[in-house]
Amino acid sequence: MNAVPGASRRSLELRLEDVSKRFGAVTALERADLAVEPGLLLSLLGPSGCGKTTTLRIIAGFEAPDTGRVVIDGRDMGLLPPNKRGLGMVFQNYSLFPHMTVGDNIAFGLKMAGAGAGEIRRRVGEMLDLVHLPGHEERFPHQLSGGQQQRVALARSLVTDPSVLLLDEPLGALDKNLRENMQFELRRIQQTLGITTILVTHDQEEALTLSDRVVVMNEGRILQVGTPSDVYEYPRTRFVSEFLGTSNLFEGAIEARRGGRNGGGLREFTVRFGERAVVLRVTAGDDVAGGPAMMAVRPEKITPSEHRPESGNMLEGRVLGHVFRGSYHAYEVTLAGREEPVFVYSQARSRSGDRVFKPGQRMHLSWSEEDSVILTRD
Ligand SMILES: Nc1ncnc2c1ncn2[C@@H]1O[C@H](COP(=O)(O)OP(=O)(O)OP(=O)(O)O)[C@@H](O)[C@H]1O
Ligand SMILES: [Mg+2]
Repeated sequence: MNAVPGASRRSLELRLEDVSKRFGAVTALERADLAVEPGLLLSLLGPSGCGKTTTLRIIAGFEAPDTGRVVIDGRDMGLLPPNKRGLGMVFQNYSLFPHMTVGDNIAFGLKMAGAGAGEIRRRVGEMLDLVHLPGHEERFPHQLSGGQQQRVALARSLVTDPSVLLLDEPLGALDKNLRENMQFELRRIQQTLGITTILVTHDQEEALTLSDRVVVMNEGRILQVGTPSDVYEYPRTRFVSEFLGTSNLFEGAIEARRGGRNGGGLREFTVRFGERAVVLRVTAGDDVAGGPAMMAVRPEKITPSEHRPESGNMLEGRVLGHVFRGSYHAYEVTLAGREEPVFVYSQARSRSGDRVFKPGQRMHLSWSEEDSVILTRD
């Protein structure tokens, strides 16, 4: 690709300030504050009905917020209509105009803006190059695959050279392989253009792989904003921890702050297993107080071994079940004095060399203190 359409565009910052929206008794969005830095891709991630589409519709101007405001590049959007906000959009389940060719579909926004025939032809060609569908102008949507249709929808949303791109589950209708493929495509296009983008998804993996920032939402509220590794490795609440993958949760109490020069964030966390009390070590922020608490450890952070490890956090259990998942072994392990099983994922490295535990066998579980986090209780 030689000419990069729109590459000279300024990337714009977008902010939501104290935005709320109710529909009758339903609070779709509650006092949302959010800032998207210029040129970054931010995803809104959360279960169905948590307010993702509502957030996009408010940003786009299709819905007026009850309180608060949307600010793009320092300008309060107020009641500015959607077509005056300089946004490109791909909507949830929004298909192409079926009776129009690909070329006419893409040209739609430019025609509405009164562009001339020459410019339209040039821009449509550039957009088809960008989404890797050169020469497809004369096809009709039904003559394209699902993935190709999504590319055309993307081209159509980008043709007017928007400064912010809003995507509502753009890959939701595609099957897994195609979806993964399109995730790379989408990221390539977004980074080529350097366009500030908000992507809505309820797919955790998609949010983690595609984004610069992830916003986890539930029931109209923003629970946490961070880089993909932040929200995955350092979830602040139980909901975030569980929504972003499997988590082992332990209820216990923080009883002492460990001293020593490097003891800054280290805490001792005591868990009771029936009669026994086991002391584990965990890293925690200064805002974490003593007393009852919940600790989370991801299954892949736990190392299984036959023999008792020398150091680190340790628990001993018995294998209840084992499944091989292609790239790793997943174990369900029971600990004496605990009802819920603990999940342990162990990377499959070689076809013959992996130590595979069988149901009934004893397993030592260990992990390092920085691999567990204390969750807040809301
Ligand atoms: N126009 C409307 N009238 C009444 N209720 C609405 C309207 N739009 C959204 N809602 C409600 O607001 C809440 C948030 O809806 P929203 O569409 O934003 O969810 P979502 O996170 O996009 O969900 P999904 O993943 O299913 O698309 C839901 O309870 C929904 O039923
Ligand atoms: Mg939605």
